[in-house]
Amino acid sequence: MMATPPILDVPQEVIDTAAALIREGSVVAFPTETVYGLGADALDPDAVAKIFEMKGRPADNPLIVHVSDRSMLNRVVASIPPEAEPLMQRFWPGPLTIIMEKGDAVPGITTGGRGDVAIRMPDHPVALRLIAAAGVPIAAPSANRSGRPSPTSAAHVLEDFPGLMVIDGGETRHGLESTVISLAGTPALLRLGAVTLEQLREVIPGIEVRTKAAAGEAPQSPGQKYRHYAPSVPMRLFTDIEALKEEARKHHDATILCKEGHVEELSGLDARVISLGKDEEEFGRNIYAALRSTKEGILLVLGVERRGIGSAIMDRLERAAHGPPQ
Ligand code: TXA
Ligand code: MG
Repeated sequence: MMATPPILDVPQEVIDTAAALIREGSVVAFPTETVYGLGADALDPDAVAKIFEMKGRPADNPLIVHVSDRSMLNRVVASIPPEAEPLMQRFWPGPLTIIMEKGDAVPGITTGGRGDVAIRMPDHPVALRLIAAAGVPIAAPSANRSGRPSPTSAAHVLEDFPGLMVIDGGETRHGLESTVISLAGTPALLRLGAVTLEQLREVIPGIEVRTKAAAGEAPQSPGQKYRHYAPSVPMRLFTDIEALKEEARKHHDATILCKEGHVEELSGLDARVISLGKDEEEFGRNIYAALRSTKEGILLVLGVERRGIGSAIMDRLERAAHGPPQ
């Protein structure tokens, strides 16, 4: 298990070919620092329609628009709210998606019919080169079929979309999606992600946290209401190691996922024990690949502490497991 996976070198011809496909209205998968994206020209409604169709994504679930520079940002928003400036300074390029008022150039299909648009400038040389070469902002959800774990390698993308053109940039660095915040109204955190709440509070101390829709309330981010990240086998999430052990004793085909530090304690069980890494950063990088690769038996996952990147990890694990930990 490598500390930080290397970014593969991608020849300019590959970037140019992919950029030409984007300009023609086709769909191309590409790496970012978070997960792989399924990209199309964000300003071309027919191209964007292909993304929704390929993913099997509900039409009301808006896409993130990826830009490579500030002038492209200006083309897709109506105006830039003052709070955005320090956030962009600190976190762009990087895994922070900012929702602002939509510019007229962006078709309604891209934003799921909404008047605001989610924007991010990815911190990945291949993604930035692709967007710049295409010369248009690229709408891209994670490059998985709806409901499946997000792809952190080119091979994962091909599992879900055989035959698709995917630019292979190697394994993604964060392995968890971007943090999504809205500045379209009162500043609010809508999705936990690779930028932590603690980091955001250093810039906007009073940011509201609306990552889970309150009962009876419409979710702020449509993505909140759909099932996500589901492995192909049953999965249960634990924060109590004794409860996990007790469950593991009931099975002979369990796969246990945990941090390195717990492997020894769990190794006496009749189960396959897999370390996802020594810390939360590595855990986050490896979790989706582990959810994808377990294809038999039952998955028992020992969660992490809800601080820093651990909060985003627990959010994804709860969605994958369909409920809070035991
Ligand atoms: O790291 C990432 O963000 C990756 C890479 C490819 O950039 N993309 C990604 O996209 O995770 P996706 O579509 O899987 O998740 C985007 C989330 C969804 O939950 C969606 O509902 C929300 O962002 N979203 C997008 N536009 C929005 C908007 N205008 N208002 C509220 N939520 C929005
Ligand atoms: Mg997704």
